[in-house]
Formats: sequence, structure tokens, C-alpha cells
Amino acid sequence: MKILTVVGARPQFVKAAPVSRALENVVDEVLVHTGQHYDPMMSDVFFAELGISKPRYNLEIGSGPHGQQTGRMLGAIEEVILKEDPTWVMVYGDTNSTLAASLAAVKVHVPIAHVEAGLRSGRMDMPEEVNRIVTDRLSSMLLCPGQNAALLLKREGITDGVHVVGDVMTDAVYDTVNSATEHQVDIPRGEYYAATLHRAENTTPDRLSQALAVLGSVPGTVILPMHPRTSQAISDQGLSLPANIHSIGPLGYSDMLKLVAGAVAVLTDSGGLQKEAVILGTRVVTLRDETEWVETVEIGANTVVGLDVELALEALKKGPVDLKKVETAFPRGASERIADLLAGS
Ligand code: UD1
Repeated sequence: MKILTVVGARPQFVKAAPVSRALENVVDEVLVHTGQHYDPMMSDVFFAELGISKPRYNLEIGSGPHGQQTGRMLGAIEEVILKEDPTWVMVYGDTNSTLAASLAAVKVHVPIAHVEAGLRSGRMDMPEEVNRIVTDRLSSMLLCPGQNAALLLKREGITDGVHVVGDVMTDAVYDTVNSATEHQVDIPRGEYYAATLHRAENTTPDRLSQALAVLGSVPGTVILPMHPRTSQAISDQGLSLPANIHSIGPLGYSDMLKLVAGAVAVLTDSGGLQKEAVILGTRVVTLRDETEWVETVEIGANTVVGLDVELALEALKKGPVDLKKVETAFPRGASERIADLLAGS
């Protein structure tokens, strides 16, 4: 059996790592990197740290308008699928790389296995929402991180091939915190908050200054590892950072987890980081109007505040995260369950 795995963006390298490890010695896995993320700190560092083998193909697609980026990937992935003739194409999450791989696979009649199936934000103006709805519709094996995702799929009439396997990010977090990776940055001593901001919808002229105002109102130092898009937007819009924000470049995975584990709380618009923080027992304030990761909210570890300063400050006053609830909501072992399902298919 041959699995062709397509990844392209930071969170996908993280999610693919534990699954690739579980698949080793079970199936032949061909790793394809679309090149959606290409800066060394957005890509190479994850491969090095997470011990993922070098991709057999790097399509070097890079950045661009969404249609163009997705279209270029579609043609290039199709060529690889035709050459490799895999049993399954495996995709992760909701990026343009995921959408392109799914479209390429379905057109040449190769079944798709989707890791992180069934997540929804209810917002069709988010590129990720469109990508995940289409991918789920086209997939034959829908690997859901929790019961809620399976229920959402059922509501859309999708029940065949749906498996609740748990969240692969839990495995990724534990594998990394238990490994002895050298840390590249000095995490500050004393109390600090950690933040990230990268979503397209939060870097627009009307929202970015508001997002920075929320971070500026936090009662303490905020360490902000900056996505390239955000630094570009700050400079394009002539904004300056509030005095309590200490901005640094993008971090590798183990440094990011260390930063998050030591923070008083995390403020973020990232999907993955909401879970990583909760798994590490750090309170999260989500700077969006909704979240796909409803379990993090249900267990009281995450508060969705949009870009509202008052709500953010209220949320930061909440008590510690209940680790027992975290363990129940985010059990380990999703990667092994996925490997078993694929091997038995
Ligand atoms: C993508 C995913 C998003 C995911 C995020 C993780 C889509 C639609 N979105 O968003 O779901 O949460 O990855 O980080 O696929 N850039 C660089 N260097 C890089 C990569 C990007 O400078 O290595 C800059 C470019 O200016 C680029 C911009 O960042 O135009 C956005 O990158 P892109 O890959 O389009 O989307 P992300 O915002 O990273």
C-alpha cells in the first residue's frame, strides 16, 4: 500500500509528523511538500525538529493570490499522483495545499483520507472554511478529531467513512515536549503573555489596529512571534506596536511550545495554537468571532472574544485550566488509530 501525503503549511508539518511515524514500517509513504510555506523558519525548521523525512517532492509553489496558488498546486500534484499511483492521498486540515491535493486526487480517482475532517466555523468568507467543506465532500475516509466534528458532518449528510480518531496535534505536542530538542531562543523569565496574529481577516486595515489594541491592553509583556504577513501589514499600514508588545520572528515548534507552556495566557487567532496551549494547560483567549475547536471552549480553557478589549481582559482573569478535562477532551493515540485504519483499508 502506498500513501501519498500532501502538506504545505506550518501546522501541517506538525500534524503529519506523528502520523508519518505511526505509518513507518506499515505502508510506503510518499511525502509531497507543495512549497506553500518556504521561509526556513516557516518550513525547514519544522522538518528538522519534528524528525520528518525530507519530502520526496517539493513543488516549490510559494505564495500568490489564492486562485493562482491553488491552481499551480493542482497541476503539479496531479503529475505526482499519476507518477506515483498511490492507494490513498492523505491531506491535513484546511489550507490551499489541502484543497489542491483533494481536487487533484478526485479527478484521477484516487481516494482521499482527510485528517481533521468535520471542522466548521460557519464562515464562508474564510478561505479555510471553503477548503475544508470541499475536502470533506470529496473524501472517502474522514478522520475526525472529536465527536462534534462527526456530528457536523452528519448534519451535512456525510456519514460513510467517518471515524472519530482524536486529535493528532495531541500526539505532536507530547512527542515534542518529551524530546530533547535544543531551544533556539531565550524565553524571558518572569510573567509574560504569548500571542500570535496571522489570519487574513485580522490583518486588514480595519482589524489589524484593533487587534494590536487588544494586545496593547494586556496587563503585562506580550511576546509576539510574527508571521511574515503580519509584519508586512503593520509596515504597509504605518502602524506601530504598543509598548508592552515584544515582537520576535517566527519560532520553531519546540520553542513555540516552550513559550506557550510558560505563558500566563495565550492570545491568538490561530487554530492549532488554541489546542496546543490548552493541551499544555495554558489559558487561551481567541481573537476571532468563532472557533472550530469548540471542545477547548466547552472545557472552559478557551474564551472567544473577537477583537473586544473588555471581553479579552475579562477572559484573562479566569482561573487555571482544568487538566483532567483537557486529558479527556484531547486523548493521545490519534496517529496510531489513523495508521491502523489505513493499513486495514
Ligand atoms: C496558511 C493557511 C492557514 C494556516 C496558516 C498557518 C490557507 C488558505 N491558509 O495561511 O489556514 O493557519 O497557513 O501558518 O492555506 N509568507 C512568507 N513566507 C512563507 C510563507 C508565507 O513570507 O514561507 C507570506 C507571504 O507574503 C504570503 C503570506 O505570508 O503571501 C500568506 O501565506 P499563505 O501561505 O498564503 O497563507 P497563511 O496566512 O500562512
